[in-house]
Amino acid sequence: MDIISKSLAQLVQEVPGITAVFSQFGLSYCWNGSQTLKQAMENTKLKENDVLEAIAQLTVTSDRMNEWRKMDNKELITHLMDRYHQVHRVQLEELFRLACRVESVHHEHVKCPIGLANHLKHFFIELEKHMLNEETVLFPRLMQDPLSVTPDHIVTMKQEHELCLEAINKIDDITEGVITPKGACNTWTALYLGLRTFKDDLASHIQLENEILYRGEIT
Ligand SMILES: [Fe+2]
Ligand SMILES: [Fe+2]
Repeated sequence: MDIISKSLAQLVQEVPGITAVFSQFGLSYCWNGSQTLKQAMENTKLKENDVLEAIAQLTVTSDRMNEWRKMDNKELITHLMDRYHQVHRVQLEELFRLACRVESVHHEHVKCPIGLANHLKHFFIELEKHMLNEETVLFPRLMQDPLSVTPDHIVTMKQEHELCLEAINKIDDITEGVITPKGACNTWTALYLGLRTFKDDLASHIQLENEILYRGEIT
């Protein structure tokens, strides 16, 4: 199937790193994931060639994924914990602080993301539980005795990843696609910039785990 005939959600599953391109062009794969790429480009009046060229550049990122496929579990897990788990903890604390500030100061603004701070608070609690479970149970087993990891463990991890993606969808709903409104103050701008970075980081984190770390554990 031609790439522009595929849905945004399908492309997120199939093309490593494509979420960064969608973010760059303001295409919401969480909000409008069932749209084909062609429909999404028409709706946003983007130039097809610009988007397709950016997607073509992702070969470099695909090469990086192939590099990770050659690494052993220990190297990959060290990378996941340093680059994503620890980074998410810093991101989440700061995003919650910024969301509280924006909701408190701009609650009368028509675009104010009412409920964002509360959603982030609950999302972060669930994500922290998921990461701790990986760090204390799954990762040590995958490094020391991969055969002790059962298919049920992996299914549970992947189900929790799906819940993370649903929580991201809700962030998109509350913020109308994390589009910074005109005239937004510095705090609001920083909040949405941070949310977009967090979304991309989380998507890359989940992609590495689903496609590489947990790929061979279910028969
Ligand atoms: Fe993880
Ligand atoms: Fe995970």
